[in-house]
Amino acid sequence: MKVISYNTNKIFLSSTMLFSLASRRAAGFTVNRAVTAATRAYGGSSIHFAKEGQAEVILVGCGAPNRGMGWYHAVQMLEDKCPSASLDYIVEPWFMGAGGDSPAGQDFKAWQDETEAKYGTKFTASLEELPPPEAPRLALISGRTADNPRLLSESIAHGAKCIYLEKPGAPTVAELEAMKNEADAASVEVLMGYNKNVCKYVRKTREFAETVPGSHVTFVSNNAYENTPESLGECFERNAEGMLKNMAIHELALLVSFYDVSVDNIAEVVADKEFSSMQTLKGPSGKEYTDFDKIKFTIKTKTGNEVSVQADRCGGSDSYATVTDKAGEEVFRYYMPDEEDKVHVKELQAKYPTAMPYFFTQDPDYITVKERVAKHTVDGQPAEGIATIQIAIDTLKVAEYLTPILQEQLK
Ligand SMILES: NC(=O)c1ccc[n+]([C@@H]2O[C@H](COP(=O)([O-])OP(=O)(O)OC[C@H]3O[C@@H](n4cnc5c(N)ncnc54)[C@H](O)[C@@H]3O)[C@@H](O)[C@H]2O)c1
Repeated sequence: MKVISYNTNKIFLSSTMLFSLASRRAAGFTVNRAVTAATRAYGGSSIHFAKEGQAEVILVGCGAPNRGMGWYHAVQMLEDKCPSASLDYIVEPWFMGAGGDSPAGQDFKAWQDETEAKYGTKFTASLEELPPPEAPRLALISGRTADNPRLLSESIAHGAKCIYLEKPGAPTVAELEAMKNEADAASVEVLMGYNKNVCKYVRKTREFAETVPGSHVTFVSNNAYENTPESLGECFERNAEGMLKNMAIHELALLVSFYDVSVDNIAEVVADKEFSSMQTLKGPSGKEYTDFDKIKFTIKTKTGNEVSVQADRCGGSDSYATVTDKAGEEVFRYYMPDEEDKVHVKELQAKYPTAMPYFFTQDPDYITVKERVAKHTVDGQPAEGIATIQIAIDTLKVAEYLTPILQEQLK
């Protein structure tokens, strides 16, 4: 087997601030009347951080330091990794509310105190406490998936011009469709945090596959859970929306974005029975959950595309993609992180030793998505490669469609 691997240049964005200390932007965006009314309740003095050319970012749902996705987004923006984003407000409903006394709540408080002192960032427990926007406002919503529909409504009511919504956006297609309608009616744009859409291994694989007639791409995603009923039962309960809506949703978004996959365009889906495994396990609450611990399947579309996805809860901590030729021989494989990015991962690990490992492997992609969305919020130019909420709806539809079909095939 001849496997070609490539090392390429990094795609890191410059962390240099592009802006002078000119007075911050107060023009070039509009505040509608509903917004003004909704924010009238605010009685505090406004802070002035976003500068000309920057979006005023509100992080909604920060989560615990070292654990929450929102926290890592915050760290990247505070460290000026996204030149078009100024993180001015952090809204944290749980750890500044009912969860404040927990150990994670205390961690959050210590980080809040440090961040306020170092950067002047304003923390609130709800969007109600925000002043009206002073610059094009971008709400980055990273709450629990079930809370995100409500947080989107509140972000619209409180002046967001654009919303960066963490994947999958909502627990169900129906909720996500309602969110899109609400945003459309308010002329607010919603872009998604599907970071694999912009990452290097996906781009390299797609580019290579283009050069091999009749080739076949497989996207592989691994988690590092222990292969025990206790560990997987805990995983099944915590991610009760199931493997396709939770773990493999990034890969489904790739299929929708780049392979024309949609419920209407799927001609055939076939599970790899040898690889795949479905189990019914008890979660910590004692309730039983049925889910895939490993799944591999191939989709053929009516328009002639063919692509595979493989996800394994106990397969390790990497993601990669392969290209096989017409004869079924693997001719290309590209990992995330590649050799070059592993150096950067090590540096980040040393800086944040207790943080979730996936923050580091996807670090450049989180920066890319945030920077493109923030820049788009300011200048309205297309946010290249960023998934829209319509892509997210189509992705969630595919997940809802595939789950019972694959379960049936694996019985
Ligand atoms: N793009 C990616 O690679 C990626 C990775 C992980 C998560 N995500 C997405 O980011 C979002 C946030 O995920 P997360 O893992 O940071 O979630 P999380 O549960 O750690 O935190 C999200 C929010 O939940 C609230 N919360 C935390 N503990 C709570 C409790 N015990 N009771 C009630 N509320 C509580 C907090 O307000 C917190 O801000 C989700 O939409 C998720 O799908 C994306």
